[in-house]
Amino acid sequence: MGIVLFSSTAMATDSDIMRGKYLIEIGGCNDCHTAGYAPSGGAVQEEQWLLGDALGFRGGWGTTYPPNLRTYMNKLSEKEWLSKAKTLKTRPPMPWWVLNRMTQEDLSAVYAYITQLPVVESNVPEYVAPGEQPKGPYIQWPAPPK
Ligand code: HEC
Repeated sequence: MGIVLFSSTAMATDSDIMRGKYLIEIGGCNDCHTAGYAPSGGAVQEEQWLLGDALGFRGGWGTTYPPNLRTYMNKLSEKEWLSKAKTLKTRPPMPWWVLNRMTQEDLSAVYAYITQLPVVESNVPEYVAPGEQPKGPYIQWPAPPK
């Protein structure tokens, strides 16, 4: 016997989830975190959303890969997500400042949406250091103008 704690996901309302979905859509998160989304003009079924991508972004920072946001989010409590998102800074081209500037309410909605999606594992390559050759496909970013 003990105290029953309800997780914040259990308390998330349908309207939180719908708002989270809306924010993911207009926030452009699928462009990078969903394979094939940008090149198809967004014609990817929701079942495939946010599973990350093996298409790398290569530049002066090395080669980065958009992670699977379902497995990522399910490892965090809502509280951990909120503090992480407010202070997050990543390598390019992730627009980390967008998450820093989201309101707590919106970040909670994003959490509610992503954590109610089924967790599906996917193969997202590890970060590759500058100067090392990535094994799979990547988009090459030119050096910034001098
Ligand atoms: C232009 C491509 C792009 C877009 C758009 C984008 N991301 Fe990312 N995201 C990435 C890449 C690449 C990484 C990995 C960065 C790294 O390895 O440092 C990443 C990493 C992340 C991470 C992990 C951060 C960590 O803890 O290291 C989260 C969370 C995330 N993105 C959420 C989002 C959300 C939410 C949106 C929409 C608002 C979004 N991303 C839009 C490319 C993108």
